[in-house]
Amino acid sequence: MTNYLSKLKKDGYCIIENAVSKKKCVEIGAELDKISISKKHKKFRFRDKKKQLQLVNVNYINPSMFMDLVTNKKILKILNDVFKERYVLSNFNASRPISNFKKYRLHIDSRMPIFNYNNTTHVVANLCVDDFTIKNGSTVILENSHKGSRKGRIKKIIAKKGSIVLMLGHLKHDIGKNIDGTRRWSIIAYYCRWWVKPTYDFVNSCTKKIYGQLSNKQKEVLGFNATPPIDWDKRKYTLRNAKTIPSNFSRLKKYLN
Ligand SMILES: [Fe+2]
Repeated sequence: MTNYLSKLKKDGYCIIENAVSKKKCVEIGAELDKISISKKHKKFRFRDKKKQLQLVNVNYINPSMFMDLVTNKKILKILNDVFKERYVLSNFNASRPISNFKKYRLHIDSRMPIFNYNNTTHVVANLCVDDFTIKNGSTVILENSHKGSRKGRIKKIIAKKGSIVLMLGHLKHDIGKNIDGTRRWSIIAYYCRWWVKPTYDFVNSCTKKIYGQLSNKQKEVLGFNATPPIDWDKRKYTLRNAKTIPSNFSRLKKYLN
């Protein structure tokens, strides 16, 4: 644990090996293949200039398969230590590089560059559903960019299937070039401090059916008890205790006021 944290602080990323079983990765990979060609889920598919295929919000397409990853204990333990305050899920998607493109578009996932680790606003957890190899488009990072350096090398993150790669949101990175054409799925969960606006509104997009499948911890990480009050006379605080989240969907609308 301490090792992961010191590596995250020093290098801007760390790799937790064997975080998810190989068997589970095989099941996830097969499900992602299925979603990626399904007509029903067409609206969740996004192709980034033929560079990568993204399946957006897969946690809500198949909650019983993906929601456990959102609240993976190994991830949450590290998030607790980095943020030292409440955080929520900002974005959750699956991604696969689909070409050997020419130029990297190095970028950060947090909304602003921060060079002080203690002020980290975003942490990204990347589950390697397949092996991340030198030729199949493993994520690349710009070394030391989380400390403001522009002189570091571009480095490929090589990791085994079932590993979780944690990255600070302000570490420059990009999806890798898929040279050998082999499949390389990853699931990417983005977390941010509770007061940062998340990429997706997982509270208002949650259906009754999905709500019924969520644990209280999952509801908390999705931000159900971190929404701003609608008005002063209805409620005074944004953050509430997780115990106050209603178990029944029919009481949710009133709770969110
Ligand atoms: Fe990114």
